[in-house]
Amino acid sequence: MSAIHPKHFLTISDLDEGELLHVLDLAGELKRGERAGAPLAGRSLAMIFKKSSTRTRVSFEVGMYQLGGSAIFLSDKTSQMGRGEPIHDTAKVLSRYVDGIMIRTFEHEEVVELARYATVPVINGLTDLVHPCQLLADLQTMQEAFGRDLSGLTVAWIGDGNNMANSWLNASALVGFQLRLACPEGYEPDAEILVRAGGGVTLSRDPCEAATGAHVVTTDVWASMGQEDEAADRERAFRGFQVDQAMMDRADPSAIFLHCLPAHRGEEVTAAVIDGPASRVFDEAENRLHAQKALLVYLMGDAPASAPEAS
Ligand code: CP
Ligand code: NVA
Repeated sequence: MSAIHPKHFLTISDLDEGELLHVLDLAGELKRGERAGAPLAGRSLAMIFKKSSTRTRVSFEVGMYQLGGSAIFLSDKTSQMGRGEPIHDTAKVLSRYVDGIMIRTFEHEEVVELARYATVPVINGLTDLVHPCQLLADLQTMQEAFGRDLSGLTVAWIGDGNNMANSWLNASALVGFQLRLACPEGYEPDAEILVRAGGGVTLSRDPCEAATGAHVVTTDVWASMGQEDEAADRERAFRGFQVDQAMMDRADPSAIFLHCLPAHRGEEVTAAVIDGPASRVFDEAENRLHAQKALLVYLMGDAPASAPEAS
């Protein structure tokens, strides 16, 4: 509660490669039951939700409980935020009570503002721009399939250039895997994040080409939270961008399918793929718990927020 310059997790780029590997190693140890004790005993996490959630809410709440601490659910509708209390006042007040703040909201700038005024770590639980906690779980799931070093792999992102696509771009820049994005015209990822991601990324309109030889094929809903009114237009624009078995057959024989969930079977992915042998979506969902527990220990635990060099 007393940190003056807390470390925040607003995008995956807030970690360097060594810190990311440290968090992923810890996530693996937690999953395998190799870490005993209650490293966050007596500590609390405030969770602000301005959008719906199943996985994020439950995994953070259970995670805090398993680490010996507790979590408090706040929605804009039932707190004073919904009646216009400024985010900077909310940041300062919550920082007097809790040891960390997780927030899921629309505008990314709101999370940046929260972090600017909070004196405890702030964790981004999804904005319109990025979804970094999901990427921690996705990278852990990739490591389980392919080993700790992910740098030689190719990931194919099929569909909307949304918050998940932007997070894959950030992760690719950090970890060094190749990322092939296939997005319809007008639905490209954030231009700045795309440029920053560098040379390991390609952007095309051809999902089959993107999937060819890929080790990971991944997609997301065509209309994200807040875009419900655009659903019909998007359905038209994304025709041809469904991940089906024919697309998976073009991927590497060891390829896995990932999806952050919730999914719409028959839209962005067929039931045969998401419920088929290459799918790791439920391991991926489980890993939200382990990866976020590791993040919570890293940001809110006693040990200083530093990590060994990447190796
Ligand atoms: N993947 C994900 O963030 O799920 P929820 O929206 O259920 O939290
Ligand atoms: N892109 C989706 C992810 C949900 C976890 C959304 O923002 O709704």
